[in-house]
Amino acid sequence: MNQNDKKRAAAEAAIRYVDGGIIGVGTGSTVNFFIDLLAKRSRDIEAAVSSSEATTRLLRAAGIDVIDLNQAGTLSVYVDGADEADKHRHLIKGGGGALTREKIVAAASRKFVCIVDDSKLVPVLGHFPLPVEVIPMGRSYVSRTMIALGGQPVYREGFVTDNGNQIVDVHNLAITDPVALEQHIGGIAGVVTVGLFAARPADTLLVATDNGIETIE
Ligand code: 5RP
Repeated sequence: MNQNDKKRAAAEAAIRYVDGGIIGVGTGSTVNFFIDLLAKRSRDIEAAVSSSEATTRLLRAAGIDVIDLNQAGTLSVYVDGADEADKHRHLIKGGGGALTREKIVAAASRKFVCIVDDSKLVPVLGHFPLPVEVIPMGRSYVSRTMIALGGQPVYREGFVTDNGNQIVDVHNLAITDPVALEQHIGGIAGVVTVGLFAARPADTLLVATDNGIETIE
């Protein structure tokens, strides 16, 4: 099975968790397979809350009603991908730059189902550079604090988030305690969101492998 087949398989497995109500939809190539499948079941859900402008466009093109989170209350389920995941369901997200809205939607959801292919499952997070969304004027300051933490920050040049901010991708961080690091980086002045999803991990991690779907709960 190639990587796209696995992404599609993970998306198919996530469809089973959609059970009416208002659902949250993440961002990225794996979730795009989920949106394709959701299009055929649009009558089974009330509406969707989107984690990015890109996903909003795809959902609307699929005939799915997209509403503001402020009008939605608690979401029944949130389905999203990840850049890296460990067996504790801690994640690195934000490769697509949608981490802030993704973290808000995850927080507002009763259940967070994360869909990945098995190349994303790692023993220790941090091989994938950790995205940090920053207020533009704080970018250099935040980058210096990342160096002090032992990382190598790289400014994602030419990229502006849906919130009008910038992203610094931090390479070579040893993320042995994701919950503590999320809390620490999240508290640095100028940081909007750090792409560690550990304090609120996924509830269910669906990993597509050559031998089928592995469910980690
Ligand atoms: C976007 C994300 C995505 O979930 C993550 O980048 C995974 O994307 P893909 O499914 O394309 O590999 O966090 O901000």
